[in-house]
Amino acid sequence: MNQRDDFANLEYSVEEMRQMGDEVLARAIEHIATLASQPACGDLVGDDYCRTLREPAPEDGTALDPLLDRLFDDWIPKSFTTAGSGYLAYIPGGGVYPAALADFIQNTTNRFTGIWRCAPALVQLEANALDWIRDWMTFPATTRGLFTVGGSMATFNAILCARERHLGADIRPGVVYASAQAHHSVAKSAKLAGIMQDRVRQIDVDDQFRMRIDALEAAINADRRAGLKPFLVVSSAGTTNTGAVDPFDTIADLCTDGQLWHHADGAYGGFFYMCPELRPLMRGMDRADSLTLDPHKGLFLPYGTGALLVRDGAVLHDAHAATGEYMPAMPDDCYDPSQHGPDLSRGFPGLRVWLTVKLYGAAKLRAAVAEKRALAVAAAEAIEQLPGVVMDAPPQLSLFGFHIEWPGSTVEEQNVATTELMNRVTARGRVMLTGCTTGGRFLARVCVLSFRTRQADIDTCVEHVAEEAAKVLAAQGAGATN
Ligand SMILES: Cc1ncc(COP(=O)(O)O)c(C=O)c1O
Repeated sequence: MNQRDDFANLEYSVEEMRQMGDEVLARAIEHIATLASQPACGDLVGDDYCRTLREPAPEDGTALDPLLDRLFDDWIPKSFTTAGSGYLAYIPGGGVYPAALADFIQNTTNRFTGIWRCAPALVQLEANALDWIRDWMTFPATTRGLFTVGGSMATFNAILCARERHLGADIRPGVVYASAQAHHSVAKSAKLAGIMQDRVRQIDVDDQFRMRIDALEAAINADRRAGLKPFLVVSSAGTTNTGAVDPFDTIADLCTDGQLWHHADGAYGGFFYMCPELRPLMRGMDRADSLTLDPHKGLFLPYGTGALLVRDGAVLHDAHAATGEYMPAMPDDCYDPSQHGPDLSRGFPGLRVWLTVKLYGAAKLRAAVAEKRALAVAAAEAIEQLPGVVMDAPPQLSLFGFHIEWPGSTVEEQNVATTELMNRVTARGRVMLTGCTTGGRFLARVCVLSFRTRQADIDTCVEHVAEEAAKVLAAQGAGATN
């Protein structure tokens, strides 16, 4: 049959697959190899440019090569260089190579891993990866976990568990508590889980941006007096604004006494707990009923992998168990991902984690995690010494926030100057910083979590902050203040 007669055939020949694979691999490796010379922020474009990209679906296919040209030469550079070593913005993600290989394997073999019986050995690898994470977080053997696309979806599933456990069908009186610094995914997940915004309380924080326990207790008591049903406290293992770690032990005590579910959001900071020497910074996190983690942050995987641990695994199972006449039997003693989460058909997220841990080994990953904290602490110590710099949020984990000020300046003037400092540092192209506003004060932030960030990047960051702070202060006619 010639090509014309066999038009419906979508299979490529072995030779074609090899050639296409080689082309993609060559581009991807070239991209990684040249990351150091790519600007940390990328060359962002506006809406007009994006409008020029709109097009109808092509009726006929094209060759791969020109598409790769556009992707790698035009479009990928027009974005934040989140894979680069100078990305100290927001919460950096990862992108380790083993996970990319795992994705290629899962996409080409395309096995169905929602149900244990369809791919028992593969699902077992995923279950192993979840058990490894459970052990690193020192959760008990009763724990069951779930890989999700990210931290937001992990928190959503945790809220479902808490709701099922404590509210049953009567969800309207249920109230959720999180600090005013908690990630916005908490309120969003609550809404998705049927807990409306008027039932989500933002609890005040102390001078280190941690949830105030007296304010939490007061809010819970007030809601109980009003006939509502407090059922969930969400603590943070590292907030996005300033990296604050909430007092887990005290929250766990309060939740045990008051029969509330305690969920810890460790999307940013959870994996620091892997390192025994850092565990005291997060004492009591392992007492939570559930824990959100983001392997695509703290375990350095590419975007698309979050994780949830639930201490009483039966609650996670019961919240999601469902079947149909066409489904195979699912024995309780095997781990069926579709019975522990909302998805039936899904990718195979466990393979990314499994292959990454197998190729590196846990010890190397722990060393990388510990190094990121050490780099952040060193950077904060150096930046705090700079004239005019005030450290508002020293690193509890690997994130810190600061501002600049000079004698006689108002907070508004300091906010403008700190924003300018941040923008000037980023404009130099080697490191990218972002900021946040909290309590009316703008903070420039440094977050070290990319596996590619090493000592040289931190030296550059400190040097550029020092030089640009001096310029910004000089423009204010200000000398050094400390
Ligand atoms: C503390 C915290 N929680 C939750 C999230 C949401 O995670 P994801 O973006 O993976 O959905 C983030 C994202 O940065 C975060 O920093």
